[in-house]
Amino acid sequence: MASPVSNQTLNSADKPLLRALRGETGAPPSLWLMRQAGRYLPEYRELRKQAGSFLELCYNPALAAEVTLQPITRFHMDAAILFSDILVIPDALGVDLSFVEGEGPRLTPLKNLRDIEALRPDRIADHLAPVYETVERVAAGLPEGAALIGFAGAPWTVATYMIEGGTSRDFTATRSWALRDPESFQRLIDILVAATVEYLIDQLRHGAEAIQIFDSWAGVLSESEFRRWSLAPMKAIVEGVRAACPEAPIIGFPRGAGAMMRDYVLETGVDGISIDSATPVAWAAQTLQPHCAVQGNLDPLCLLYGGSRMSDEITAILDALAGGPFVFNLGHGIVPATPPEHVAELVETVRGWRP
Ligand code: CP3
Repeated sequence: MASPVSNQTLNSADKPLLRALRGETGAPPSLWLMRQAGRYLPEYRELRKQAGSFLELCYNPALAAEVTLQPITRFHMDAAILFSDILVIPDALGVDLSFVEGEGPRLTPLKNLRDIEALRPDRIADHLAPVYETVERVAAGLPEGAALIGFAGAPWTVATYMIEGGTSRDFTATRSWALRDPESFQRLIDILVAATVEYLIDQLRHGAEAIQIFDSWAGVLSESEFRRWSLAPMKAIVEGVRAACPEAPIIGFPRGAGAMMRDYVLETGVDGISIDSATPVAWAAQTLQPHCAVQGNLDPLCLLYGGSRMSDEITAILDALAGGPFVFNLGHGIVPATPPEHVAELVETVRGWRP
């Protein structure tokens, strides 16, 4: 007897997110949200309590897989993003890392070339094995049609945390180091490029279907710095990942990069670009969308406040961008105070949109 689901099962290639990243236009467009798993969800806070610390949650495959799937179960997003953090790479490299409640990450800052040479790229595979197990579990538990996105931080953004020792306002230590001694800073970037390529390839081999690289602090760089510390490492990552996984769709998120995003898209060859909320949508449609899929860019604070202001903004974004390859998303991550009902309203508004 034929299985009742087999002939209805969506081919992986037909998943809406993957179609958009291949350059197809769909109405309504595919949809997921950065930081869709997290503290704004009561079911996340519950599991987080069980896991102990945030890092323990990241390295607990059963719980991390469950957290990854929570927003899919609740809101039926078109993609799940692996639950982990960009800072598991420095952690794997041997940097002392903790997350302080209410403060964010704290790392022992790198001070000199000796600290960089003491990093342990040989530890990546073993240390991150639980993350690959999470990927496998999520891939096995995903509902039909939803795609699994793996991710990593971009070398520049990860380097800022490793040199500042945490979140920073102006990145003075990192930018001073890069200006004072570009050779040793380049050495750190090269180590991070290699570690990131290895990490992303392993996520893809264990079941991730697309990847996103978060360069959250790209926007503080001047043009020449951006080319050297954001664009060039991203180009190397795209080449390294494609050498092993030529079909894998890659999304870049050089947050705050403004007009530099055009060269970033053209020179790195990404399949998709995630745009922040300050990026004009008509400019993105004209300048970026002919070359790759665009993802974005509702202001997370519009989602926090909801109402007609939110739906007007959503419609304006869709009107400008959904006529081409597009993935609806925020311009940055969901903030913890966001009411989950506003996310449900967002999903309804996007899914109800027609050209
Ligand atoms: O749902 C998802 O998007 C997947 C999971 C995810 C997390 N972090 C979980 C997380 C992703 C994709 C990230 C990426 C990340 N982490 C970035 C890039 C994106 C961005 O926001 O710019 C950065 C810069 C980090 C580093 C980081 N992690 C910081 C600065 C913080 C503290 C601030 C905060 O929001 O708490 C984290 C912690 C973190 N990462 C949490 C979550 C759910 C909160 C931890 C908790 O439960 O207390």
